[in-house]
Amino acid sequence: MTGTDATAPSDPPGVDLRSDTVTRPTPAMYERMRSAPLGDDGLDGDPTARALEALVARTLDKEAGLYVPTATMGNLLAVLAQTERQGQVLLEATAHMFLTERGGATLAGLAYLGIAGTAGAMDLDELERTLRRPGGLRTELVGMETSHANAGGAVPPLAHMRAVMEAARGAGARVHL
Ligand SMILES: Cc1ncc(COP(=O)(O)O)c(C=O)c1O
Repeated sequence: MTGTDATAPSDPPGVDLRSDTVTRPTPAMYERMRSAPLGDDGLDGDPTARALEALVARTLDKEAGLYVPTATMGNLLAVLAQTERQGQVLLEATAHMFLTERGGATLAGLAYLGIAGTAGAMDLDELERTLRRPGGLRTELVGMETSHANAGGAVPPLAHMRAVMEAARGAGARVHL
């Protein structure tokens, strides 16, 4: 072969954060996988998964952790665990959970509703209006995403996230991050 193959992947400079799927495990990570103690979740449990759950629970100051293999699965479990059926879930309109995972609504028996936003941050007035709309579905859950994939990895400001949390809780809804 001569010249440069324009279709060959090339390593961009620095750290490529486009997706977790473009990163590659280092030799140390492969070695850790090879030597990790294994078990069976259906029998006595998997010690490595348990250690990870405990580490994450400790780090996030939670009672417990639960390992799931994909984020879609984690989001769906979070919705199912925190909602009553036949209500609604509010999400920023370009959130991954809204654009790509909305099929989960059919399983959860909920309506997913998009709230217009800027750089991944919901319009607070529209959020309040939707939470208080008379005769609408009861809002069970308000979801936020950070960093926000479809907003180019934008991180909604902490003050914004607090405002969303307060608005949601003030209307009796739970919050999922
Ligand atoms: C913000 C966000 N949430 C959830 C997902 C879904 O992740 P998974 O492919 O692990 O289900 C993605 C995937 O790109 C994502 O960017």
